[in-house]
Amino acid sequence: MTFDFPSPEATAALARRFPPGFAWGVATSSFQIEGAAHEDGKGESIWDRFCRVPGAIADGSSGDVACDHVHRLEEDLDLIAALGVDTYRFSVSWPRVQPTGSGAWNARGVDFYRRLVDGLRARGIAPMMTLNHWDLPQALQEQGGWAARETVHRFVDYAIGLQRAVGGHCATITTHNEPWVMAVLGHEMGIFAPGLKSRAVALQVAHHLLLSHGLALQALRAESAKAELGIVLNMSHAVPATDSEADRARAVLDDGTALRWYCDPLFRGRYPDDVLAHVGADAPVVQHGDMAAIATPMDYLGINNYSRHVASAGAPWVAGSSGLPLTEMGWEIHAPSLTALLLRVHRDYAPKKMLVTENGGAFPDAVGDDGRVLDVDRTRYLFDHIGAVADAAEQGAPMAGYMVWSLMDNFEWASGYAKRFGIVHVDYATQKRTPKASADWYRGFLGQVRRGGD
Ligand code: FCB
Repeated sequence: MTFDFPSPEATAALARRFPPGFAWGVATSSFQIEGAAHEDGKGESIWDRFCRVPGAIADGSSGDVACDHVHRLEEDLDLIAALGVDTYRFSVSWPRVQPTGSGAWNARGVDFYRRLVDGLRARGIAPMMTLNHWDLPQALQEQGGWAARETVHRFVDYAIGLQRAVGGHCATITTHNEPWVMAVLGHEMGIFAPGLKSRAVALQVAHHLLLSHGLALQALRAESAKAELGIVLNMSHAVPATDSEADRARAVLDDGTALRWYCDPLFRGRYPDDVLAHVGADAPVVQHGDMAAIATPMDYLGINNYSRHVASAGAPWVAGSSGLPLTEMGWEIHAPSLTALLLRVHRDYAPKKMLVTENGGAFPDAVGDDGRVLDVDRTRYLFDHIGAVADAAEQGAPMAGYMVWSLMDNFEWASGYAKRFGIVHVDYATQKRTPKASADWYRGFLGQVRRGGD
């Protein structure tokens, strides 16, 4: 499959479709970029532990060094500013600021995030802070982790502590990144930390994540938080592989377990009946008042989207059978499904505001002799998906922002360092950062958005 760079005219035309005030950014997460895993009083996280399980990470790597971001904060802040973005989405490593997840806070860890947030603001960039992007303190895991109801209360205390430390300087606070991934990949499929394999546990984990989200929102509002508050969900538009009755039923069920299981409680205060019937005795224990807490109104919904979901009841669906090009993750590239997804969420749940908080692609980038990375495939991906967001906005979805995943190449969880999502290339041997052609395109595009498409 060959792609071309978007033309200047097409880029300008896309820029004209976005209003002033729309938030444009890049996203990262703590474990994937920070490194400094055992320094300055940081506690162990479940991902530090999981990386040491033989075979857990494809290339046998860990987050010990990652992009060495903790030691390169000023350089990375300048890198972010040079992109011309107005928002930076990052996450806080809970064990860096509160090593065991309860009790004492670590002043050196808190200081790092103060410098990050202050450094962003000094450069005119709005900080969008995520409280939990998966790196739970290992000490809490040893007390049951997210399967234990007590962790909900630990999270609320952590949220309050961060609000007092840095929250007042953040434009946006997100409670959790992708509860489905933590619950299902981490506790049912066992391919992400903490590596457990039980559907019943996964559903209890999901319930506790949702509950802690709602209670944290209430606690943050009681602290008079000024930031906009919400959650980030991973979502894909589900379509049946064929028109058969079985595949269509499967698409409804997959959408139920992945999307409605989270959106129905958050926006309607109840779990979907068809999925409850499907999971039977694996359904979570729900206490009186939980559902109302989960449905605490949010200021925005963040949506992470990479691909569409093709549902197949029979033989496992093989990505690529539809003839669509794939990213290096094996995910189909299908931008119109992002429009369909955004319109559907708007129609069914009516969030006040919607942001695409992650979107991007891993591609086999080649560094040329001149040191440049001409990632035309990633640039095209971003162009097409930003267009899909514009389509949804023009059809009524309350779109308020778009963040590229990711600022720079980083630790891609169980895939290790082989999969590169950055618009900035990282040479892990030297830690040299080199903006790719996609970064140059994004900077140019954002300049045109600011100038109204001129
Ligand atoms: C999302 C994660 C993010 C990144 C991308 C590729 O599920 O939130 O950390 O790994 O996938």
